[in-house]
Amino acid sequence: MKKFYITTPIYYPSANFHIGHCYTTIIADAIARYKRNKGFDVYFQTGTDEHGLKIETKAKEAGVSPKKYVDKVVLNAKDLWKSLDISYDYFIRTTDENHVKAVQKIFTKLYEQGDIYKGTYKGLYCIPCESFWTKTQLIDGKCPDCGREVKEVEEEAYFLKLSKYQDRLVEYIESHPDFIEPESRKNEMINNFIKPGLEDLCVSRTSFTWGIPVPFDQKHVVYVWLDALTNYITSLGYMSDDDTKFKQYWPADLHLVGKEIIRFHTIVWPIILMALDLPLPKKVYGHGWLVINGNKISKSLGNYKDPREYIKYFGVDAVRYFVLREVPFGNDGNFSVEALIDRTNADLANTLGNLVQRTISMANKYFEGKISNKKVYEDIDNDFIKKINSLDEDVSLEIDKLEISLGLNKIFELLRFSNKYIDETMPWVLAKDEKSKDRLETVLYNLLESIRVCALSLNFAIPSTSREIIRQLNNKSSDIKYLEDNNYEVISPKPLFGRIDKDTFLKEHDL
Ligand code: MSP
Repeated sequence: MKKFYITTPIYYPSANFHIGHCYTTIIADAIARYKRNKGFDVYFQTGTDEHGLKIETKAKEAGVSPKKYVDKVVLNAKDLWKSLDISYDYFIRTTDENHVKAVQKIFTKLYEQGDIYKGTYKGLYCIPCESFWTKTQLIDGKCPDCGREVKEVEEEAYFLKLSKYQDRLVEYIESHPDFIEPESRKNEMINNFIKPGLEDLCVSRTSFTWGIPVPFDQKHVVYVWLDALTNYITSLGYMSDDDTKFKQYWPADLHLVGKEIIRFHTIVWPIILMALDLPLPKKVYGHGWLVINGNKISKSLGNYKDPREYIKYFGVDAVRYFVLREVPFGNDGNFSVEALIDRTNADLANTLGNLVQRTISMANKYFEGKISNKKVYEDIDNDFIKKINSLDEDVSLEIDKLEISLGLNKIFELLRFSNKYIDETMPWVLAKDEKSKDRLETVLYNLLESIRVCALSLNFAIPSTSREIIRQLNNKSSDIKYLEDNNYEVISPKPLFGRIDKDTFLKEHDL
């Protein structure tokens, strides 16, 4: 069986997650489900990046230990992923003992072979905040957090030799055109970051303690990116007694990351792997951001709600569908409750919901729910059946390019065509004439087949709706194509999505 290893970034549990974090995770989940449905042995991983000064500070403010602080956020995150139907196979936490041990071994190995060396970190330091800043981060020459003076200080630190691998990296990227996507980000990495020259990366700190101790120099803790990026292999048992999963799944097939961290994933991460003499991931995809009403989602702007609020009102699949459908992958996209309601009404309630409801109701009304194929075909059916039969491949072509929105659009094109087929064949007219009874049954048969194929195709995106449609169709065939001799005994329909009146909803709720 072919394997497929897909990852999300590991998120900082400095606060509970928002719809932006859900964005990456829902997309990764949809791809993981898609691949599973296609028979791949999928390993889908997400998790949390728990060390560092920011978390240490947050915990202090909350008056708890850093571990206690992150434990709470992680519990909340796992509940969020459950409510979004996220089917991860493994949730890694960088505080997990096996991760900590493996990072220490990796650090030691890289030090012993000369890829990590001891040097001096020079930076601008804010003493009360215990934070280092770069010149560009300062506001009016002062600490961007507290506004006080910063001091130039030097700190002993370990560095990873990025410069040593620069030429090998450029050569790798250029000879593996699929490694960085989209194309625009690849060019940005090469031209803006790598070719001007790589500076060695600081990989340890002595100014805070919430991190993995450097095993041979305990006043240092491993600084975030080396700790964070290696999660993708430590979780599989790399450098542990049992590395079966590592052998089975590495290299990753797809790292999904946001555009601001693609730099670390396509420069630092490949170099760590080269230094460890390991194969590189097949693809790193840098997606755009979800903004809220045009603004960055941010705690300080207070412009977002707990994503479970949206699920509560619109259902999990409305949120999943919106995220997957609304934004062309790679671009930034806007999230708003208005747009979520519009999308849900137009596609899920009108196109999908109505089709299923109308068809199943007619099957019940005219044939007591029992439909088989009477094969009284007319010209219009050829086109319909052809479209049903090509759906699976049309969708595959898009998903393989990670064009999930376009893949979903293919399914909705067939759903819209099915609605048009009802309007054109007019089953209610056929029902009036006893002589048209077999034609009527054929029409309903074709519609049920189309709905079944669409429901199966939608499984990766909106799994619970897909299952609910199949339950109402009461049919177990799993071929994603038109079957000549299927048999239906549908149950009574239950509405899939209620239409939401946008104005009333917005007046009554503060979302
Ligand atoms: N901990 C690092 C990642 C380490 S991976 C080895 C980190 N964490 S993060 O919590 O700040 O962000 C994680 C991911 O969430 C990033 O890919 C980021 O782009 C994504 N998003 C955070 N806000 C987002 C939006 N508003 N929209 C889309 N993605 C967003 O960086």
